[in-house]
Amino acid sequence: MKHTVTTIQAMRDNKETITMLTAYDYPTAKKVNDAGIDMILVGDSCAMVVHGHPTTLTATMDMMVLHCAAVARACDRTMVIADMPFGSFQYSIEDTMKNAARFITEAKVDGVKFEATPHHIEKTKAIVQMGIPVVGHVGLHPQAVGALGGLKVQGKDIDSARKVVSEALELQEAGAFAIIFEAVPAKLSDYVTRKLDVPTISIGGGPFCSGQLLVTPDVLGMYDNFTPSFAKQYQKFGEVMIDTFKQYKEEVLTGKFPGEEHSYKMSDEVLEAIEKEFGAA
Ligand code: KIV
Repeated sequence: MKHTVTTIQAMRDNKETITMLTAYDYPTAKKVNDAGIDMILVGDSCAMVVHGHPTTLTATMDMMVLHCAAVARACDRTMVIADMPFGSFQYSIEDTMKNAARFITEAKVDGVKFEATPHHIEKTKAIVQMGIPVVGHVGLHPQAVGALGGLKVQGKDIDSARKVVSEALELQEAGAFAIIFEAVPAKLSDYVTRKLDVPTISIGGGPFCSGQLLVTPDVLGMYDNFTPSFAKQYQKFGEVMIDTFKQYKEEVLTGKFPGEEHSYKMSDEVLEAIEKEFGAA
């Protein structure tokens, strides 16, 4: 059965921890789905970890819709959430609603997430009123990397802690069905998790949230341009890939690949007829 807002809320109410990973393509999303992960975020981190840009700011609606559609096709169990890229929700409520709708109609995802600040609460309400499940995002907003002066922990001092708490409360009030806490102190996300009725999902928000999220290329060891301290690498697939490609090159150069089992056969008569028609090679 596919996860919905109802099953995710029930997990939180029953104190079952929610698991979430990012994915950007069909084969990876299928493995995440088959592994029983509850939710996928098709993050705008895609701009960095898939497209090689230095920040998330260059993700576009067309880029995100394409990746979201591939991921959604792979998931018959995992709930798929599209991340609204920079510029897709900052201009107007109408624009935000149209862009959120594109993710539902074109990509067929189950909900959207955006880095809503208090300036965007009306937009959150508008999308919720369209019937689209919305995930909020507090703490570090990577789309504000320029204004923040880097990808830094948020909520350590009283002013920024107040901001995290009030934004989370406003997002819940606006109808967000879950809220991501990125790079905030564990004690703060623990406090807010106990205050809120909706599930909280941590990515660098400590162990006390209702669920955990990581960026899949970090988990697999496939992206090393930037690794946040909260990320955990479970595998070194990047190294496995380099070894594999080297082995392939070696086999091609030494003639070990392709072997007979990788080649198609034809009868001698056909080749003889070809030689007769076109001359010997
Ligand atoms: O784009 C992304 O992967 C995200 C997570 C880091 C929350 O927004």
